[in-house]
Amino acid sequence: MALSPAIRTVAIVGTGVIGRSWAAVFARAGCETRLFDVDPDQLPRARVWLDGQRKPDWGPIVACATVDAALDTAGYVQESGPERLDVKQQLFVDLDRAAPPSAILASSTSAFDMTEIARGLRHPERCIVAHPVNPPHVIPAVEVLGGIRTAVDVVDRTCDLLRAVGQTPVVLKKHVHGFILNRLQFALVREAIHLLQHDVADVEAIDAVVREGLGLRWALLGPFAVADTNKDDGVRAYFGGYEQWIIDLMNQLGPTPSLDGDLIERIGKALDGARGETSRAEVREWRDRMVVEIRRLKADNPVARVGERAQ
Ligand SMILES: NC(=O)c1ccc[n+]([C@@H]2O[C@H](COP(=O)([O-])OP(=O)(O)OC[C@H]3O[C@@H](n4cnc5c(N)ncnc54)[C@H](O)[C@@H]3O)[C@@H](O)[C@H]2O)c1
Repeated sequence: MALSPAIRTVAIVGTGVIGRSWAAVFARAGCETRLFDVDPDQLPRARVWLDGQRKPDWGPIVACATVDAALDTAGYVQESGPERLDVKQQLFVDLDRAAPPSAILASSTSAFDMTEIARGLRHPERCIVAHPVNPPHVIPAVEVLGGIRTAVDVVDRTCDLLRAVGQTPVVLKKHVHGFILNRLQFALVREAIHLLQHDVADVEAIDAVVREGLGLRWALLGPFAVADTNKDDGVRAYFGGYEQWIIDLMNQLGPTPSLDGDLIERIGKALDGARGETSRAEVREWRDRMVVEIRRLKADNPVARVGERAQ
């Protein structure tokens, strides 16, 4: 895989679920990938997972004892610490101090505004959001968005690097809490919980409608492109022809539900029952393998490029 020659050394700060997966993305593209985590138990855990993934042609993976050592020669830093604004702000103070002047500082944040994270930093112009979809070594989309002081060339260089390591950057025009992915995801989850609370269906039935229905199309086409295929005359006929029906239906969608302990337990029990003897790790491993297969299959499908052309 060709890699942007300008950035060959990457640092991952925070090596939990997302950080270790980012490490796989960069190392498999040949980058020297330097890891730091404040929790001394976390680095060996990430290492074990990465050793299980790595292939002989990967770049070196170096576990570092300090953030300074991790960032020393880095051209790009992927912050993947906890999703708390105060923690991210302090982390970015440390990263801004320790990184070489030309390094890009990217955050995996799922919702926060880079303008807030980088407030008061010496070099906010090099700070950017690069929000992955879990797990990024399997799922390519990355939401990319600067703060108000982020330099335009930092957005471009981040996208170039992400493309060079096999990801699909999607640039947002402005900040909105939760970006695109989590807003769409939780619009659906909100309604799923509403349906469950109103006893319209059980957990299994709601999951089945997405797994065996909506999700199959969405793996190929986005919601607008799906609408375009729902009528012979396309999206204009679909949205235009069904306008009142769609508006009436949208008006009936549920308000934000509560997530009380009993409800969470009911969902947990249903999913434990559905998984049976299969472990959660086995389900994850199967999910990741299938996603890779789906990506391989749809790479040859011209219709699947509709979404890519839209960017
Ligand atoms: N898990 C997901 O599905 C997902 C998806 C996309 C984005 N994200 C985002 O990625 C980020 C990481 O999420 P995660 O699920 O990997 O969390 P996680 O809890 O699994 O990992 C966070 C890691 O950061 C480490 N850490 C805490 N403070 C630190 C510090 N000061 N310096 C260095 N390391 C520190 C922790 O020890 C831990 O290993 C969050 O911002 C999250 O919103 C998560």
